[in-house]
Amino acid sequence: MTNDLLPAPAGTPRRDRAGDVFAAALRDRPGPHWLVHDDGRHRALPVRRWHGPPEPATRAVVARCAGPTLDVGCGPGRLTLALARAGHAAVGVDVSSYAVRLARSRGVVALRRDVFAPLPAEGRWAHVLLMDGNIGIGGDPVALLARCRDLLRADGTVLVELEAPGPGLWRGHSRLVSRDADGEPRPGAAFRWARLDTVAAHGVAVAAGLNVRTLFAAGRRWFGELARRG
Ligand SMILES: C[S@@+](CC[C@H](N)C(=O)[O-])C[C@H]1O[C@@H](n2cnc3c(N)ncnc32)[C@H](O)[C@@H]1O
Repeated sequence: MTNDLLPAPAGTPRRDRAGDVFAAALRDRPGPHWLVHDDGRHRALPVRRWHGPPEPATRAVVARCAGPTLDVGCGPGRLTLALARAGHAAVGVDVSSYAVRLARSRGVVALRRDVFAPLPAEGRWAHVLLMDGNIGIGGDPVALLARCRDLLRADGTVLVELEAPGPGLWRGHSRLVSRDADGEPRPGAAFRWARLDTVAAHGVAVAAGLNVRTLFAAGRRWFGELARRG
């Protein structure tokens, strides 16, 4: 288990297989699919939810948005859609071309981009969203949040989904595990991933140049709103 704030090992490519892995789960619906972490924890991937309409918990997130919002790792774009329906300028970005096609087919603006590569309107977004475990993107939450901070305007915030208090920060490798035609578990390739809970979020945010402004729950899910420091 890795639970410190160390940067990723030198020479580790920033962009890894995560986009391909999630695209495979999106294609092969309805699953089941699990995300299995190398600390032994696992969780079923809510792929049906990603394909579905915005669920009630998204309202609490959308209600905190006021201005142009970037939905990072948008998948099929249900959050981007919820934002657009609420009257916000919203753009989804995802490394997976399949996810971007699905999002566009819902009528939202979506771009195929790696969050760590140049993005439109850097430094001018009112909000950046990291939902559905997307704090794991790249396997280094400090680097990801620092990148999101650079995308924000001075009074902007990052809205991030977190784990309930308890497990802290974990960084490591994860795999998508699906069932093959015989019902046997089929593990995919490992990719770098991370998880972050509401307690560890404070230290990670500060290391990324942000402060946790507020934590809130919607149903059984937890979220944080992080504002720029200074
Ligand atoms: C856990 S899924 C989240 C699903 C999504 N929020 C939804 O509603 O469908 C992670 C998403 O992040 C995308 N992703 C992974 N690495 C990325 C990167 N470096 N930049 C942008 N998107 C990335 C994946 O392609 C995938 O769609």
